[in-house]
Amino acid sequence: MKISFAGQSVPNAGVLVILAAQGAKLGPAAGVIDKKTGGQISRAFKAAGYIGARGKLVDILAPSGLKVARVLVAGLGDPAEFDEKAQIDLGGTIAGWLGSANATEAAIKVEVPEGLKTKTAEMAARIAFGARLRVYRFDRYKTAATDEGARDDDKPLAKLVIQSSSATAARRGFARLDAIADGVCMARDLVNEPANILHPAEFSNRLKAMEKFGLKVTVLRERELKRLGMGSLLSVGAGSEHDAHVVSLEWRGGGAKAPVAFVGKGVTFDTGGISLKPGANMGDMKGDMGGAASVAGLMLALASRKAKVNAVGLVGLVENMPDARALRPGDVVTSMSGQTIEVLNTDAEGRLVLADVLWYAQKTFSPRATIDLATLTGAIVVALGHHHAGLFSNDDTLSAHLIAAGKATGELVWRLPLAEPYDKLIDSKVADMKNIGGRDAGSITAAQFLARFVEDVPWAHLDIAGTAMGSPKTAISRGWTSGYGVRLLDRLVADVYEGR
Ligand code: BES
Ligand code: MN
Ligand code: ZN
Repeated sequence: MKISFAGQSVPNAGVLVILAAQGAKLGPAAGVIDKKTGGQISRAFKAAGYIGARGKLVDILAPSGLKVARVLVAGLGDPAEFDEKAQIDLGGTIAGWLGSANATEAAIKVEVPEGLKTKTAEMAARIAFGARLRVYRFDRYKTAATDEGARDDDKPLAKLVIQSSSATAARRGFARLDAIADGVCMARDLVNEPANILHPAEFSNRLKAMEKFGLKVTVLRERELKRLGMGSLLSVGAGSEHDAHVVSLEWRGGGAKAPVAFVGKGVTFDTGGISLKPGANMGDMKGDMGGAASVAGLMLALASRKAKVNAVGLVGLVENMPDARALRPGDVVTSMSGQTIEVLNTDAEGRLVLADVLWYAQKTFSPRATIDLATLTGAIVVALGHHHAGLFSNDDTLSAHLIAAGKATGELVWRLPLAEPYDKLIDSKVADMKNIGGRDAGSITAAQFLARFVEDVPWAHLDIAGTAMGSPKTAISRGWTSGYGVRLLDRLVADVYEGR
């Protein structure tokens, strides 16, 4: 979809979208359009009974006095509540409707409703951002032959014009959001990509290609990982035909400051290993690299919008397969930190990967803060469903910042405890720790395991098993993949670390 920004002229074709606030209030620009139709729009719109309720759409076909095929009146609700997230969502809702109406060209007339303090340009850029996120689709493996019949609900919208009284400023504001959307869409693509294509080497190739955005990308292969002593991470990949990789992506936009480190779980497929998962829905485990995907997308966003921060993204890429050479339950492995781990369940593999990448991140980059993202436990889905990621942290300030960034972006987090009694649950009889803590508090014991590999640095762990994959349909996402984490952490960087 091509998005462009223009002034207030009336388009000649396609769909013209105008906005109405609660109580059927059309703004002046929409009022001009209504007049051209002899009041047809306001009459039709009142007849529909929605009177501008948030997200409600009224479609008026072949309006008299206009050259467009349709006018769509989009309700924005109470102007006082039409905040940043609501504006983005409205862009998504409109784009979703345009798609299902088979529209190929549309213009959205943006004007700030009375009673709302937002710049027109800001609102226009946010509506465009929401639309771009909503039209994302993953159709790389749909051939032309099945293109018509096998598509889901809607057709792609080819051209979207955002009309407003401040087109130049809107275009400028959108450039930043467009960079973030690039990151979100990259994360979604990676999660959607099947595991026979996106194995660890292919994942690293795609990361290596990000050098063109000004990132420094370093790929560590198995030989180096062995030399570094990453026995925990390597044990997960032992049963796979594909060698493990660890990749770091460095963005330097913040002078001499220590970087913020972002660490992602990148299990390109999780069969469970010898502790094999049941067959039902195992295909979803192609998404078990969602943490790594979000880290990649975030680094793309930061580099594309030239964020004034030093940041490093690190991902541990492995495939968890059952095999004659695979890790067994009962095996003891030695992590890069020197701590030994009794592996009692080979399906609790994400923490084995993160243990070494977290350690490596701290030793190599001495970060000012470390945040990891991982599709780590089914238990977090039981606890929080698909609407909050689990947040675990050793730092109240960092937690508060993440909670605030979550509320601002709609990528919500909910903090759960870390505490010594939970830590005890992973003590082992034969090694320094075991990799499972039993049935109870499964997400917490997983986080306690990670905490044993974190030194004295503000750290947060986000369990995104329910939000990065299997995520619900929303105004700005068709579902299953959301790109969760990119917008959250981009906001965290912007509000907390940039220029500071
Ligand atoms: N990748 C899974 C967690 C997961 C489950 C992600 C559902 C997305 C949706 C993880 O590696 C795993 O298998 N965890 C086990 C841990 C258990 C063996 C302690 C789990 O959650 O069952
Ligand atoms: Mn697993
Ligand atoms: Zn896993």
